[in-house]
Amino acid sequence: MNAPVKTDNAELIVPDGVFAETVLSVTHYTDHLFRFRMTRPAGFRFRSGEFAMIGLMVDGKPIYRAYSIASPAWDEELEFFSIKVPDGPLTQHLQRIQPGDKVLMRKKPTGTLVLDALTPGKRLYMFSTGTGIAPFASLIRDPETYEKFEEVILTHTCRDVAELKYGFDLVEEIKNHEFLAELVGDKLKHYATVTREDYPFKGRITDLIENGKMFTDLGVPPLDPAIDRGMICGSTAMLKDTKALLEKAGLTEGANNKPAEFVIERAFVG
Ligand code: A2P
Repeated sequence: MNAPVKTDNAELIVPDGVFAETVLSVTHYTDHLFRFRMTRPAGFRFRSGEFAMIGLMVDGKPIYRAYSIASPAWDEELEFFSIKVPDGPLTQHLQRIQPGDKVLMRKKPTGTLVLDALTPGKRLYMFSTGTGIAPFASLIRDPETYEKFEEVILTHTCRDVAELKYGFDLVEEIKNHEFLAELVGDKLKHYATVTREDYPFKGRITDLIENGKMFTDLGVPPLDPAIDRGMICGSTAMLKDTKALLEKAGLTEGANNKPAEFVIERAFVG
């Protein structure tokens, strides 16, 4: 049995199979979005793109939700990007965490947005909306992504410009990173679009694929199953619509035990 730790002002015995980690920093982007970093338990292994169950003790009971790990597999710390839902069972509490607080994490990570679930290709698209960028924040900081693909295109669509900031900061961080900058070079393209505010790149990613504007803007040819691979993370509706477009282009959906041309996973909500 582990030693008691304090989470949300309650003394608890951390059950077997659960880590209690210390919050290191919290960054608030908008009224609805924030990021936090916490300690990584010794021996905790995951593949870039996977998610873990993250939780807090609330009124003496643990509440967990699935969270993509936004940091890459090599990072000594763990990063998460979250929405804030005013009455969300977990996020109404999680949005108030401060450095030094404890956050629970179940020991077993899992997920389909991993490089192993894709067959070899040349260009990797990562299509995200909202907090769906989180697994890709991990993958675009993993050298293996650039070993396996010649070109990596991260698309991020949000309602407002302010919601894009996490993605812009991330790409800036990569450009200035002492090891990643050289390794990534100009292989990474960031395509950020907005749907409910004026912005040079406007529209849902599905519309921009369908009308061809995404390809023109990026200077790349249309989707080709021989070359292109995809990963999709967003709302249920976004997954369904984007998946339909990739299938129309001839790409087939893969999984951990059956790698193919694209994989999907629902972004965290609630
Ligand atoms: P829109 O503003 O046109 O609804 P949400 O916060 O609702 O998850 O939306 C995040 C972003 O995803 C928004 O820019 C939203 O566009 C977009 N979006 C919502 N549904 C879809 C869909 N079915 N396909 C593509 N993009 C979508």
